[in-house]
Amino acid sequence: MQRTVHVDLGPRSYDVRIGAGLVGEIGQSAADLDAKRAAVISETNVAPLYAKQVLDSLSSAGLDAWDIVFQAGEPSKTLGVASEILDELLGHEPPIDRRTMIIALGGGVAGDMAGFVAATALRGLRWLQCPTSLLADVDASTGGKTGVDHPVGKNLIGAFHQPAGVLIDVETLKTLPREELTNGLAECVKHAVIRDASMLDFLERNVEGILGNDPDVMTELIAINVAIKAAVVTADELESGQRAHLNFGHTVGHAIETSVGYENIRHGEAIGLGMIAENRLATGRGMIPDQEASRVERVLASLGLPVHRAGLDAGEIWKIMQHDKKALDGRVRIVLASAIGDVDIYDDVTEDEVKSVVESLGN
Ligand SMILES: NC(=O)c1ccc[n+]([C@@H]2O[C@H](COP(=O)([O-])OP(=O)(O)OC[C@H]3O[C@@H](n4cnc5c(N)ncnc54)[C@H](O)[C@@H]3O)[C@@H](O)[C@H]2O)c1
Ligand SMILES: [Zn+2]
Repeated sequence: MQRTVHVDLGPRSYDVRIGAGLVGEIGQSAADLDAKRAAVISETNVAPLYAKQVLDSLSSAGLDAWDIVFQAGEPSKTLGVASEILDELLGHEPPIDRRTMIIALGGGVAGDMAGFVAATALRGLRWLQCPTSLLADVDASTGGKTGVDHPVGKNLIGAFHQPAGVLIDVETLKTLPREELTNGLAECVKHAVIRDASMLDFLERNVEGILGNDPDVMTELIAINVAIKAAVVTADELESGQRAHLNFGHTVGHAIETSVGYENIRHGEAIGLGMIAENRLATGRGMIPDQEASRVERVLASLGLPVHRAGLDAGEIWKIMQHDKKALDGRVRIVLASAIGDVDIYDDVTEDEVKSVVESLGN
């Protein structure tokens, strides 16, 4: 089974293809886009698993291809590492030119890094994304946000630079550690709440296939989620409005991550708790009905995400939220649901509301 989602952005439009075995088709895709050479940018966990397949596919399609591999993990997402990759890329012989394509191979870290290098090298090279984590499949690979972290905060340096295509090979999920799967699943729940109640039905009906990594179920799951993300991105490419809906669960979630320390909680777990807190906040305002908010919590639990966390410091979390980069003129901006599939941005949440829902996560 294969699916294709078209991301309609005028001259920057591209297709996201999803299915089993697509790693072997990267060469053809690059050749179809008239590339002559390709630099595969990957990291130390993923390159040993898939870089050879990708390089072979590129060579078979007649491209001169080589790889550049950096240390896996979020701590590598820095200007320093980007600069080392650019050194290697610009030092390549014969020199790179406009027909050199960048291939991002890996999870969200490799995608953000390779995309940032593609956005800046020669003022912008074309690039293909070959995501390998569920989070990158359903979220990071579509939309053209690229960038690196800064000590002041995550993802503060970067550019919008849409890829020329995305190839999602669901077979790569076989080697993805189970605990990484939940990071992607939390973003799927987020997509359901912001745009598509039927996605929640899909999650409820397919827990077994998802946790068992069934290729057809994963293809369908990823296609639905890419379509949701694509719809949001095409309506607001540069995040001046509704693209911010994708921050649902992330205002409280990021503050939880910062408060407990990134090494002590997974992104998906923090976002899951963030969604629960933000839904309870909405419930308290008479917005999303109790039974719908509870349904979201049940889905999160069935997918293996925690729905409680003891020891959160509600006061600190509120303070962190006020300094979030999404805050505007010191006012906390938060995405709240009126129903599953219907959200809006609010800037009037109070310290008392936030503290009370964060404290409720401990029970
Ligand atoms: N650009 C965007 O729109 C966007 C959106 C969401 C998140 N992000 C970024 O994505 C990053 C998180 O992405 P992530 O969760 O994929 O992190 P990641 O890239 O670090 O991958 C998670 C872990 O899984 C490993 N891995 C990935 N694919 C594998 C596979 N198939 N087999 C075995 N191991 C595999 C990686 O080496 C890593 O250890 C963050 O930096 C975040 O800021 C970007
Ligand atoms: Zn997220």
